[in-house]
Amino acid sequence: MTNYETLEYDVLIIGAGGAGLRAAIEASSAGVKVGLACKSLLGKAHTVMAEGGIAAALANVDDRDNWKVHFADTMRGGQYVNDWRMAELHAKEAPERVRELEAWGAVFDRTADGKILQRNFGGHRYPRLVHVGDRTGLELIRTLQDHGVHQGIEVHMEHTIVTLLKEGDRVVGAFGYERERGRFKIFRAKAIVLATGGIGRAYRITSNSWEYTGDGQSLAYHAGAELVDMEFVQFHPTGMIWPPSVKGILVTEGVRGDGGILFNRDGKRFMFADIPEAYKSQTADNPEEGWRYTQGDKNARRPPELLTRDHVARRILDEVKAGRGSPHGGVFLDISWIKEKIPNAAEHIKKKLPSMYHQFRQLANLDITKEPMEVGPTTHYIMGGVRVNAETQMSNVAGLFAAGEVAAGLHGSNRLGGNSLSDLLVFGKRGGEFAAKFAKENDAGQMQDAQIEEAARQALEPFDRAATGAGSAENPYHVQTDLQEMMQNLVGIVRREEEMVRALDELSKLWERARNVSVHGHREYNPGWHTAIDLKHLLTVSEAITRSALERKESRGGHFRDDLPNRDPAEGKMNIVLSKAADGSMQLRREPIPELPEYLKQVIEEMK
Ligand code: FUM
Repeated sequence: MTNYETLEYDVLIIGAGGAGLRAAIEASSAGVKVGLACKSLLGKAHTVMAEGGIAAALANVDDRDNWKVHFADTMRGGQYVNDWRMAELHAKEAPERVRELEAWGAVFDRTADGKILQRNFGGHRYPRLVHVGDRTGLELIRTLQDHGVHQGIEVHMEHTIVTLLKEGDRVVGAFGYERERGRFKIFRAKAIVLATGGIGRAYRITSNSWEYTGDGQSLAYHAGAELVDMEFVQFHPTGMIWPPSVKGILVTEGVRGDGGILFNRDGKRFMFADIPEAYKSQTADNPEEGWRYTQGDKNARRPPELLTRDHVARRILDEVKAGRGSPHGGVFLDISWIKEKIPNAAEHIKKKLPSMYHQFRQLANLDITKEPMEVGPTTHYIMGGVRVNAETQMSNVAGLFAAGEVAAGLHGSNRLGGNSLSDLLVFGKRGGEFAAKFAKENDAGQMQDAQIEEAARQALEPFDRAATGAGSAENPYHVQTDLQEMMQNLVGIVRREEEMVRALDELSKLWERARNVSVHGHREYNPGWHTAIDLKHLLTVSEAITRSALERKESRGGHFRDDLPNRDPAEGKMNIVLSKAADGSMQLRREPIPELPEYLKQVIEEMK
């Protein structure tokens, strides 16, 4: 066998956003040897795009908050297809994870009496989001990085993992390459934690940067792990839409949490016109009450701009389709209007939303303290993903764990804003803890040379095709762009059967084209080659999303079907599970969601 550089760890973490770092810290403090491989530079992760805060029921701003309310909000937001045990653990453990982060040096905004300040966000009954202006994800990453640095974790930046290595039914390592020099590397590990985040780059308009090509979901699937509920994709209602070069960049929900309002080209606050039944009793029916809510009036109800993301995104789309959109195809989001309400509004906005102020100033030449922004939906997050055990985060493949966005369950059909940062802290810790335990209880398995040689051969195929002139010489960028366009148009915010059937047909053509991509030059920093390798992951997750979306015969959360616009109670009792069959095809089956235990049913009942 070719002699590749081999690194040996007890636990290998793949991905260095919040979940990966938190898992690495936990595993390392359990005394095992930890390696961490990430596609990009350490600290550059989608975690920083969770700008508005970490959801945790600390009850610092409203003492009526507690884990039960947070649990009930998360279940209702997810429309009850959540893994209830994950939702329970998350709501109970999030406050402790936040306090721990503070002890490790995170500097949060404070209340007047010195407690950690919490802000409003969509779907959360009380102000619950612990934050640092609109840079919360950044502060979280900075804190975990600083803390992790002292734990002896070996970090391999700019490394892409192309396949997981197995011995029988368990995972024993990973095969990847250094992006800069193109050299292959083997990571031998007793346990692996996937923490690679999402799939945003399968769509044309996304808040995700280039790294998010569904690597973890795809690596797990091809290694035999099950994926669940991949149809649930979250389109954040507010991304930038102008100028075109910045389309999709996130505009934090914190803008609406702090009083920002949405209106159409006629100046109408359209969100008041359609308030879902489940939220009617808690939603203001007039602007004045909504404003008072954002300013902390406990007797007021939340403005309709703070309804769940799936609903707000669809209402925006409706306005655009009805010809009432903004000049560049979105709607208006305005925080500057608060000058009518508070003195020194411009300074207040700059203090609460510093990143938004600079983002619009620099990228769109617009002053958000004076003018409304133009916004529209952007692909932000996937609720579906690797199926894991709620307590341990292990998948059905022994030794393979997943935490954060790449794992499914907690958020059901729609994630509440702020629940991702708490998710990655709670389940990153659990994933790291149980991966370390697995590593202590198991020997390093045997790696199979044939698997490694085959992975290397496949990775180099695009160069071979260029050298021999075999195939139809597809350009990897063209395949990627066509895939993104197709997913945006046929499996986007609003779906219908005939379009998804077409999408499947397009996907089989795109798979064929991907098998023919060729890349010129050599392996040292060759972005065309990187794109060619990403295609397998992008196509795998796109197919998973499309097949699952076709199978779910209803609308729920992030999955909205024009042809079946209502929720179906029978469908809502089902998970859609995908696995790879022996012949390589994608197998789909339905599985009943385990029933809520009595004590949690009672919690939900009480919270109504
Ligand atoms: O809008 C935001 O700040 C995003 C938060 C999140 O996705 O949790």
